Amino acid sequence: MSMIQRPRRLRISSGMRDLVRETELSVRDFVYPIFVVPGEKLKEEIPSMPGCFHYSVDQVAALAYEIAARGIRAVEVFGLPAYKDEDGSSAWDMESPVQRAIAAIKDAVPNLLVVGDVCLCQYTTHGHCGHLTGHYVDNDRTLALLQKVAVSQAKAGADIVAPSDMMDGRIAAIREALDENKFENTSIMSYAVKYASGYYGPFRDAADSTPAFGDRRQYQMDPSNVREALKETALDVEEGADIIMVKPALAYLDVVRRVYEVTDRPIAVYNVSGEYAMVKAAAANGWIDEQRIVLETLTGMKRAGAKIIITYHALDAADWMNG
Ligand code: PBG
Ligand code: ZN
Repeated sequence: MSMIQRPRRLRISSGMRDLVRETELSVRDFVYPIFVVPGEKLKEEIPSMPGCFHYSVDQVAALAYEIAARGIRAVEVFGLPAYKDEDGSSAWDMESPVQRAIAAIKDAVPNLLVVGDVCLCQYTTHGHCGHLTGHYVDNDRTLALLQKVAVSQAKAGADIVAPSDMMDGRIAAIREALDENKFENTSIMSYAVKYASGYYGPFRDAADSTPAFGDRRQYQMDPSNVREALKETALDVEEGADIIMVKPALAYLDVVRRVYEVTDRPIAVYNVSGEYAMVKAAAANGWIDEQRIVLETLTGMKRAGAKIIITYHALDAADWMNG
């Protein structure tokens, strides 16, 4: 039978499929998040994030070699501090695990890009992402604190600072502070579109950053909104963000696509802790094929418009992709 249109022709062999593939995942798309803690000789698995660990600073050089050996270009550093106070001052202490880990990674593997997460919730006694006035997270007073965090991370050697606090005006404030301190080549990856999400649960256990009261809905975005995402994107681009992030990833791929269509900045997505934990739990039960599901999911993120994918699956995915 003669049929002019046969889409299956282009799926007939792996060679043909390779030839026409539209989206190709690369290890060069990944950012691997790591958690550093006070202490020595520690590598302890995080219960809610199997396969992820708390590392003491003396362990990160070896980890950096492992990451770079897979062809991965970047890590993002999160930390638990040695002390907490009302304003989270350990967030800009050069002796804190994050600052020391950043320096240790740059020392061990200078080419590996280091991203610093700029926020206060891991460092404040109340677990909110800024300075509190009563129960209100005071936007403008928080900006000065975020400037100190960003500059301290740049001083430690961070190539990119990534503010995740969702205060208004923070990109402009951080850009100004970086430039004043001669860090004009330090990039800003803005968590521009960050939703108030249930998917951060495992991370908050890992980073001990659950708010002591209330939630983050006064500063993180309402999951129902997408036009607001375009507003946040436009503002952050205007304020000098080099890279725009959407977070979480899976439930927000429509948002990724919409943001992609309105900006010329590279887009990052954060494949967050809850998304990771769901896959790991189902895989541990033998209910899904972990490798297939992870690569399919990450490909979906890239197809939606993200170039950069921050994911706890990065090491495993790189191993599978490198074959
Ligand atoms: C801190 C921060 C969070 C995440 C990254 N930076 C948690 C939050 O906003 O409560 C979440 C990462 C993840 O869930 O993997 N502001
Ligand atoms: Zn925070």
